Amino acid sequence: MGLVWNAELYDGKHAFVASYGADLFELLAAQPGERVLDLGCGTGDHVAALRARGIDALGVDASAEMLARARQKFPDHPAHVFRVGDARSLDVAGEFDAVVSNAVLHWVPDADLAARSIHAALRPGGRFVAELGGSGNTATIGGGVEALRGARGLPPVRSPWYFPTVGQYAAVLERAGLEVRQAWLFDRPTQLEGDDGLATWVRMFGHHWLTDVPDVDAFLAELSHALRPALHRDGHWFADYRRLRVVAVKPSGR
Ligand code: BEZ
Repeated sequence: MGLVWNAELYDGKHAFVASYGADLFELLAAQPGERVLDLGCGTGDHVAALRARGIDALGVDASAEMLARARQKFPDHPAHVFRVGDARSLDVAGEFDAVVSNAVLHWVPDADLAARSIHAALRPGGRFVAELGGSGNTATIGGGVEALRGARGLPPVRSPWYFPTVGQYAAVLERAGLEVRQAWLFDRPTQLEGDDGLATWVRMFGHHWLTDVPDVDAFLAELSHALRPALHRDGHWFADYRRLRVVAVKPSGR
């Protein structure tokens, strides 16, 4: 994934990542005693909430920094509850009643590998409940950045993100042997914190756009000015998030 996460910034100005995911966990409807893997657990809020309800939850994340913060925030849980791991090779065959993942799988372009690894982690009958950025996610931000880069003579950059359509992602899951029960795409304009909310978001998530920009502050100021009419209203910045949600099941007997 090639990104060094700032766990403090994630928990501070980007706390919306965990809070917008809350109703995904309602959809998961995990029961006490179930084994649940939170794929991309970040700084551990959802794992801790599940464990408080008697669910045997484990968090996996690619970022050691995030996991260190999770262990610091939740010292009562054994250290092994928060594990470093890769979505493409979870290496936990057939153990879990459910795998849940919020706002992570769009960072994993190897979607087929990730889906096969999720399938392998589930017991027969186990469920996969996930939310990721879907087709068209942050298109206004991305379009604004590319237009400004172009105006400054900078080349287009390759996106690190995977934002599939419903059809594309359902096909990925089916190829991996999962049965798709529900999949839907919806807009969720997401409020960003602070007067510099858009610039902060781009600094946190859009490194790939900024590495060859000579004056990042000036670039972000100009970007904010250009995108203000589209993404600033009622005194707040909004990211043009579009989410893809899926519920899938590993068929029994496979
Ligand atoms: C998202 O959650 O949609 C997202 C987050 C960071 C970068 C791109 C998309």
